[in-house]
Amino acid sequence: MSSPTYRIAPSILSADFARLGAEVTDVIAAGADWIHFDVMDNHYVPNLTFGPMVCQALKPHAKQADGTPVPIDVHLMIQPVDALAAAFAQAGADYISFHADASPHVHRSIQAIRAAGCKPGLVFNPGAGLEALDWAIDDIDLILIMSVNPGFGGQSFIDSALRKIELARKRIEQSGRDIRLEVDGGIKADNIACVAAAGADTFVAGSAIFNATDYAGVVAAMRANLASVKA
Ligand code: DX5
Ligand code: ZN
Repeated sequence: MSSPTYRIAPSILSADFARLGAEVTDVIAAGADWIHFDVMDNHYVPNLTFGPMVCQALKPHAKQADGTPVPIDVHLMIQPVDALAAAFAQAGADYISFHADASPHVHRSIQAIRAAGCKPGLVFNPGAGLEALDWAIDDIDLILIMSVNPGFGGQSFIDSALRKIELARKRIEQSGRDIRLEVDGGIKADNIACVAAAGADTFVAGSAIFNATDYAGVVAAMRANLASVKA
């Protein structure tokens, strides 16, 4: 892989929900590249978070101090997928990812996200193989490998995700396409380099950043450790 441009995507699942707009502004000031937005429905996963109206309310906050937009990376842990995906596109999402096993028509869901003007992504749980990529890789912009079971922040990184990241990286290279390889769950400053070495280029981190007092310090430590990874 040629030298990657790493992206750090703080998950607002671990932010202070009573002051979400300020949390988004603060974490961008601290160096966040993307804002990761975890949508849970108490059906596909046993937890319930926020919907398109919250995304729309946060959109004006998703920019750097000079006005440069910061992508909103919507991670749908919901079933069914398509209607809410369209609502999130309307609400200002940039990337919209869904779990391959949550849609009976994976390709249709991808097409719907693209048609709504967003970048589609496919998500794979710790227990899932990458077979859905066989017929989808030419149509997506992001692969998200779960390194915890979806539903909650603050869980420990599942090591078998590293092998799956390596496999996904090979698939991306074979496709010749520009696809982000994102990892979600249990990412900390002290394991991010090893996740990058396996082939990931985009890192979700919730509790590691928002449970710290110094967001910028954590983001800087993550970047310093990423700088040590050989491409
Ligand atoms: C879990 C979510 C994650 C979560 C990660 O289902 O998809 O994005 O916020 O949290 P940490 O980084 O605390 O593992
Ligand atoms: Zn997530």
